[in-house]
Amino acid sequence: MDLEIRPAAPEEFEALMRATTIAFGGDFHPDELEHTRAAFEPGRSLGAFEGPEVVGATLGLSFDLTVPGGFLPALAVSGVGVLPTHRRRGVLRALMRRQLDDARDSGKPLAILWASEAAIYPRFGYGLAVLHAELDVQTPLAGYRVPFPSQGRMRLLSEDEAMKTLPEVYERVRLTQPGFLSRTPEWWRYRFWIPAHHRDGFSDNFFALYEGEGPEGYVVYRTKHDWPDGSPEGVLQVVELVAATDSAYAGLWRFCFDHDLMTRVKADLRPSFESLLHMLDEPRRLRMRLADALWVRPVDVAAALEGRRYRRPGRLVLEVHDEFCPWNEGRYEIESSREGASCRATRHEPDLLLGASELGALYLGGTSAWTLLRAGRVAEGRPGGVERADDMFAWTPGPWCPHRF
Ligand SMILES: CC(C)(COP(=O)(O)OP(=O)(O)OC[C@H]1O[C@@H](n2cnc3c(N)ncnc32)[C@H](O)[C@@H]1OP(=O)(O)O)[C@@H](O)C(=O)NCCC(=O)NCCS
Repeated sequence: MDLEIRPAAPEEFEALMRATTIAFGGDFHPDELEHTRAAFEPGRSLGAFEGPEVVGATLGLSFDLTVPGGFLPALAVSGVGVLPTHRRRGVLRALMRRQLDDARDSGKPLAILWASEAAIYPRFGYGLAVLHAELDVQTPLAGYRVPFPSQGRMRLLSEDEAMKTLPEVYERVRLTQPGFLSRTPEWWRYRFWIPAHHRDGFSDNFFALYEGEGPEGYVVYRTKHDWPDGSPEGVLQVVELVAATDSAYAGLWRFCFDHDLMTRVKADLRPSFESLLHMLDEPRRLRMRLADALWVRPVDVAAALEGRRYRRPGRLVLEVHDEFCPWNEGRYEIESSREGASCRATRHEPDLLLGASELGALYLGGTSAWTLLRAGRVAEGRPGGVERADDMFAWTPGPWCPHRF
């Protein structure tokens, strides 16, 4: 197999998308390209070419990722696929090689992705950093434990109005919510675009705004009617609910639960630490299923460690093993103070020994070193090292990524 891995030109976008769609065993819809083009950055999207034919692809996107106490540029990996005729011959490995080398050259400290299958990416140094929750609430029993006197009002917006107002709320939350990604106007449109073959009997999106002192939260939702015995048993599907204040959070869920003719509210891409569980009078009426969401890969370990803040002032030495990106191999001393954090190479004894994938899992503060120790994924170098790592890496709020890319 004579393979060339190179960035795809804008006119090769269609061939890339076609290859990825075939790799997933899906139907290719050329009419959807104008929407999916939001996910194409020419210099960062790679094709694996065998002669003129694209046999594998990966899209690379640029986002700012909110990390504990700040933001870092991240390469977001998407649209990964290899034709079924070329699988298990190293095409993905070659794409990953080139992509991470490019990410390093362009100064991205982190790479991130959502995985179709969780077993694929740890070998390339990605670690499971963020979970997401799928919720299913039976609304007739969705009363709140603490009565909620609404202090705001709800307003339905047109899509055009929503595209102007919702970003204001999102940006407020993005400042301090690890796992959030910057969104361009194109991404706002793309986020809420519903491909015709994904409608599944649901309505268009509704955009509802919660206003207190100005816009404080929003919910984008769709509905599906059902009248099994002549009585209404509709489903309200939350597409995205973001609240900048506690009262917006309670008010927006109340709005969803109280919607006429709907007896179930479903949501996915929700945070694993959803406060709703503790607000409901009958928490068991909320069924919650967790799955892996964002995978994080430190591309430049020192820059990544220096680019976040830590919960407590202190020092921690990590010994990082990184087979796929050997430039990261070594010992790093993190020193955190109220003013910020620094990270430098050191010869001191390590508190914790871990691989790049495990560091990715720890990085956003949502996975504890203790959990990884028990899973056999990290080792303690000095007594108390795991506790010290957890004291520093843990962060509130936990990480949440409300959109797939
Ligand atoms: C997943 C996919 C991209 C793999 O491509 P590929 O070219 O066959 O992968 P490679 O031959 O380069 O394999 C690289 C390594 O990953 C492993 N691997 C590949 N696919 C895997 C899978 N689905 N599950 C677990 N491991 C996998 C290989 O065994 C190999 O391991 P090794 O390095 O330890 O030997 C391809 O099968 C595909 O397109 N699948 C359908 C679409 C999809 O799921 N894409 C991923 C989107 S996030």
